[in-house]
Amino acid sequence: MQNDVVGTTKAHLFGTWRKQKGWTPPHIQRGEGCYVLDASGRSVLDFSSMLVCVNLGYSNKAIVEAVTAQINSLPYVIPSMTTDIKAEVAKLVKEVLPAELEKFFFATSGTDAIEAAIKIARLKTGKPKILSRYFSYHGSTMGSIAASGEVRRWFVEHFGKAGDVVFAPPPYCYRCPLKLKYPDCGIACVEVIDHIIKNEFGIAGIIFEPVVGTNGVIVPPKGYMERLQEIARENGVLLLDDEVMTGWFRTGKWFAVEHWGVKPDILITAKGLTSSYMPLAMTAVNKEIAEHFEDNFFAHGHTYEAHPVALAAAKAAIQEYRRLRIWENVERVGKHLERRLRELEERHRSIGEVRGIGMFWAIDLTKDRRTGEPFNVYADKYAGNQIMAERLAAEALKRGVYLLGYINNLVVAPPLIATESDVDKGVEVLDEVLKISDEEAKA
Ligand SMILES: Cc1ncc(COP(=O)(O)O)c(C=O)c1O
Repeated sequence: MQNDVVGTTKAHLFGTWRKQKGWTPPHIQRGEGCYVLDASGRSVLDFSSMLVCVNLGYSNKAIVEAVTAQINSLPYVIPSMTTDIKAEVAKLVKEVLPAELEKFFFATSGTDAIEAAIKIARLKTGKPKILSRYFSYHGSTMGSIAASGEVRRWFVEHFGKAGDVVFAPPPYCYRCPLKLKYPDCGIACVEVIDHIIKNEFGIAGIIFEPVVGTNGVIVPPKGYMERLQEIARENGVLLLDDEVMTGWFRTGKWFAVEHWGVKPDILITAKGLTSSYMPLAMTAVNKEIAEHFEDNFFAHGHTYEAHPVALAAAKAAIQEYRRLRIWENVERVGKHLERRLRELEERHRSIGEVRGIGMFWAIDLTKDRRTGEPFNVYADKYAGNQIMAERLAAEALKRGVYLLGYINNLVVAPPLIATESDVDKGVEVLDEVLKISDEEAKA
């Protein structure tokens, strides 16, 4: 049975973001709490919430029941009609989003919601360009990939850019792209953004992940986000806050911008919105943008916009975050996770830096602690070279722990319901597999 499933999958489905040759997808049959069971009955700890999205873990009864009830009563209506669940979720998200966000567009993936945000920013301002940052990911469609400052864009860029995007350096202090040191740098990487905006024609908005996700869980240094907001306001450009990965308590707050008191003009989120039980994403805009479209054409839509069944999952997930007071678990277990990762940092010479916030952490690998030289860079991914983080993730999976390895980082982001003992189990396996990279790192 297992071979049939894997064989049929390989024959007829695409493995994403890879050459198809050599893909052997693990066959997963069930999920329970923070664990998935594979076809041989083996239990695997999900130490990255899959794609940092299954925030409430598997087998959450409230979400399953809400989805089932909605399918039974009303599975679908055309977007131009409304339903009880649309109004209920609109009210609920209004309660939890940053206060100035007024009007919402519900899409089916983070990518679609980013695409909507970029379009909305252009329609509102009449300006063509988006400022993004390197080391970012904002989605896979032609507009959202054009705004992504990482290697996945390279594969399609030679066809011509789908979007007019300029890039700034990321606030990556460990390997500062400007070769400076915080705080003496005066946060030059954010000042560069001011310089770019003043010297480019037609920037509609700045798109940013408040904590960079897949590309290394980069938490901005103190003062960065506040200054970014100031620069946006001074120059009259919109702030597009990509909280696809950081929203819904991943960093300990409903949304990561709350850590810095930043007020985005547009906020995009997905993943934890339904804890990934259903595909749902949203683009939320402030009052000024909402009012613009009173007399201007809102040139956007999808058949599955505000899909009732997906909205039912969102309603239940939001209620579950509150019922479980999930922020308390993130605070307590997040601290434990940090402590345990810092112990690994002391023990393993192939760890360059451990960094993160809440239950969102990265292990940034190095071949040489003195220079911080990474094992891999984007060009390795592009060239199809072996990636150390992927090798470590594959070894961890053999030992019963699923981990997301991307370029030079292991992303450690368990479901927000994880306990200290789940964390200990994951760390134990990390401790073992990091010996592999230690062997290839300078003593
Ligand atoms: C920050 C960020 N933005 C956008 C996306 C795209 O979301 P999706 O994969 O749901 O299309 C992702 C996906 O990982 C993401 O991490």
